[in-house]
Amino acid sequence: MNFIGIDVGTSSIKALLVSPSGEVLASSNPQYPFQTPAPLFAETDPEVWWQATCVALRELLAEHKAESIGGVGLTGQMHGLVLLDEKGKPLRPCIMWNDQRSYQECAEMTEIIGESEVLRITGNPILAGFTAPKLRWVEKNEPEIFSRIAKVLLPKDFIRYRLTGEFFSDVSDASGTSMLNVGKRQWSEEILSAMGWPSRWLPEVTESTVASAKVSSAASSSTGLTTGTPVIAGGGDQAAQAVGCGIVNQGMVSATLGTSGVVFAQSDEYRVEPEGKLHAFCHAVPGKWHLMGVMLSAAGSFQWFKNELGGEEQKREENGEGNAYDFLTAAAAEVKPGCEGLVFLPYLSGERTPYPDPHARGAFVGLTLRHGKSHLTRAVLEGVSFGLKDSLSLMQALGVQPKKVILSGGGARSSLWKQMLADVFETRCSLVNATEGAAYGAALLGAVGCGVHSSVEEASKVWIRETEQVDIGPDCAPYQKNYQIYQDLYPALKSSFRNLSSD
Ligand code: XUL
Repeated sequence: MNFIGIDVGTSSIKALLVSPSGEVLASSNPQYPFQTPAPLFAETDPEVWWQATCVALRELLAEHKAESIGGVGLTGQMHGLVLLDEKGKPLRPCIMWNDQRSYQECAEMTEIIGESEVLRITGNPILAGFTAPKLRWVEKNEPEIFSRIAKVLLPKDFIRYRLTGEFFSDVSDASGTSMLNVGKRQWSEEILSAMGWPSRWLPEVTESTVASAKVSSAASSSTGLTTGTPVIAGGGDQAAQAVGCGIVNQGMVSATLGTSGVVFAQSDEYRVEPEGKLHAFCHAVPGKWHLMGVMLSAAGSFQWFKNELGGEEQKREENGEGNAYDFLTAAAAEVKPGCEGLVFLPYLSGERTPYPDPHARGAFVGLTLRHGKSHLTRAVLEGVSFGLKDSLSLMQALGVQPKKVILSGGGARSSLWKQMLADVFETRCSLVNATEGAAYGAALLGAVGCGVHSSVEEASKVWIRETEQVDIGPDCAPYQKNYQIYQDLYPALKSSFRNLSSD
């Protein structure tokens, strides 16, 4: 019996077929664009995800028999707002996690519910990326659509609906809606009634390993899956990503360098950062929680840099000489740690942790005639590492003392960046065999949900092992000096960023 994990990503569906012992047997990754119809907006038509899911599943099942599939685990981008009418049709494109239009609605909702109540109930402030303020935005700006809402779903739960015809969510993904009582792991009647939103709009919410529904015959014809195949609740992409790299026990910490950057700490108890600077969410491990810091542009900053300033390296890549990122990092490795007094602020898409500010911007600070492209490159990698350290430091202040940090995501492939992270964190880092991310975690949750493993912790022991260790090197001191300067810069530039955004 094998398992499928499906990750409804920002720019692609990733589907994996995994054996009961954790071996990846097949994968498929159809891509799609998302739309930015106005500044701060980010949207995708949910039907695009469904079509890509059908393509991905058909591809996996072309080589492997549908009868061999024991279950499907779901994960996906968190916080998106999918609105369905009473026939189950999307009423508008999904307003995605990286859409920042609803910052005024966050302030309004906080005023209506009360700041301390928001933090007490949801464990977090209401942030522009989260789901509920987007719903408020639709209520105010698209009243005709609002009047036809029958269901409010998260992205992966829309795919579950199309696979099974049923409405379910899980506690880890629901934690990012600002509508869940995160301590009690159930929808908050208090929040819903304060906003005047009916609870029937929301799907039933379960723990992540619950086999919540079965593939319908309609979905069987579109995907090739066998009718009746169990679909397991699954989790938000960060919780599933953490499960997929073994972050399943108290005090374990991971740092993920994807487009966004995430520091994630498992916690057996429900703990909230007093000012709500870290996300406090339910974990996909039943009955557990996690703390999380999210940077909006992590490896995304490096990608921006390569696209805009790495023309020469990209040309070499096109000529078959190698990889553009590798050319850039090789030159950056020649520059001394600290970049001879240059600091990069990675707030290219605004920021979330530790500064929840959609108006924050990127910056190079400290440029001199001496600085060249290799300095700029290194400064980007260092600035992103400092941003991740901000989250780790907030966790350490709450008593999280990791012996090591598990690194994952595309950025963790660079040996320069890995070593830099161990030095900046002043903590040993390591890598694990599982590099497929959230879809792998979703498949693992699927295997647990079907009873092949007795718990997420047990499955993790079978599926995940450490493959590389990165010890702290001799370069900590110059990094710590620049980190202090980095920490001073956002407060100093905050009002200038705001003014720059007011055009
Ligand atoms: C997590 C977050 C992103 C999205 C998209 O809070 O906003 O990780 O889930 O990946």
